[in-house]
Amino acid sequence: MLEGRRIVLGVSGGIAAYKAIEVCRRLVDAGAHVVPVMTCGATRFVGETTFSALASERVRTSLFDDADPIPHTRLGQSADAVVVAPATARVIGSYAAGISNDLLTATLLATEAPVVVCPAMHTEMWQHPAVQDNVATLARRGVRIVAPESGRLAGGDQGQGRLAAPQSIVAAVDEVLSTARDMAGLHVVVTAGGTREPIDPVRFVGNRSSGKQGHALAVEAAARGAKVTLVTTVDLPAPAAADVVRVETAAEMDEAVRTVASAADVVVMAAAVADFRPAQVAERKLKKHAGVPEIVLEPTVDILAGLGERKPPGQTLVGFAAETDRVRQNASSKLVAKGADLIVANDVTAPGAGFEHDTNRVVILNADGTDREVPLADKRAVARAVFTAVLDRRHQS
Ligand code: CTP
Repeated sequence: MLEGRRIVLGVSGGIAAYKAIEVCRRLVDAGAHVVPVMTCGATRFVGETTFSALASERVRTSLFDDADPIPHTRLGQSADAVVVAPATARVIGSYAAGISNDLLTATLLATEAPVVVCPAMHTEMWQHPAVQDNVATLARRGVRIVAPESGRLAGGDQGQGRLAAPQSIVAAVDEVLSTARDMAGLHVVVTAGGTREPIDPVRFVGNRSSGKQGHALAVEAAARGAKVTLVTTVDLPAPAAADVVRVETAAEMDEAVRTVASAADVVVMAAAVADFRPAQVAERKLKKHAGVPEIVLEPTVDILAGLGERKPPGQTLVGFAAETDRVRQNASSKLVAKGADLIVANDVTAPGAGFEHDTNRVVILNADGTDREVPLADKRAVARAVFTAVLDRRHQS
């Protein structure tokens, strides 16, 4: 995927700038056309000549050092991908805030190409809420973040903040290029979060779903060029271009999904939908002194099973299965019973996986009998694997 691709390599001012030389070399060796852009700070750590000698073009450092009056728009428009390694807290902050204060940040704002940001800084800076918020903002907008590793830092300190290994950075650029806009033209409906079934005006029957996996799926689909409708019960960040429908109950989710699903190419039911709801909803708050209430439950609609029954030709239907026992067997029965194409099964008792965590470990079961395991990874990476499986299934048929 790197062969013949034009990649802007942004290098900002941190000690890890020396490692960008290796990133540059590997990209060039893989056949990419590398255009280096250094910030003023970066030139204090490594020489411009080094990058000019190794890259495919001479290094650029300023908006004004060139005959071209608008180098940033040229660089941004012509790039197939932009990678920033290392990315300092300043560059990350400027990019997240939309502030252009040098050639690199101007290029980042001027490009529509996929962007890979590889932060490197001291642990205290990396963990600062401002930096974490900025990184989360960029990730939500579809920027691929290659998280820093733990290890020895400048000045002999230890901790997380070390630039990821050059081969991981190059692999991320390769992956971003191969998945960039591979979902363009598809309309994807994603549901997220746990439904809340009211008991009275202040209480509800709910579940532990945080909605993080569903929102990560929406962000991933949007980053790959899909038109996204996100039906969600939670207020987590959503992709800027998505249609977001807020719902509370299973019945509301069912209605919202019905409205959009028939014309969708892909429907992913990541929501944890209540199976039962109180048969009667009290109009006024139930008072303690009135005694222990008896709450009679009734079944809700099974949204996924309904979608399976009405599935239009060409649609790919994906369910989730949160299990505590016999994960594969239960998930595979759901795949058949609900008429889905794929089921993403996770063992919610496994460490680091399932509800509320930022990470997940799943196995994606395909109706053709094959499956693929996704080892413990952040929910965005799980989302990537889910849509890659969706596209593979669509190409099969
Ligand atoms: N689902 C749904 N409507 C429901 C219940 C579940 O659409 N009323 C969907 C979920 O969004 C998920 C899949 O069905 O994609 C499996 O959900 P899960 O809760 O694991 O399965 P259930 O059918 O509810 O079975 P059980 O709770 O007995 O495991």
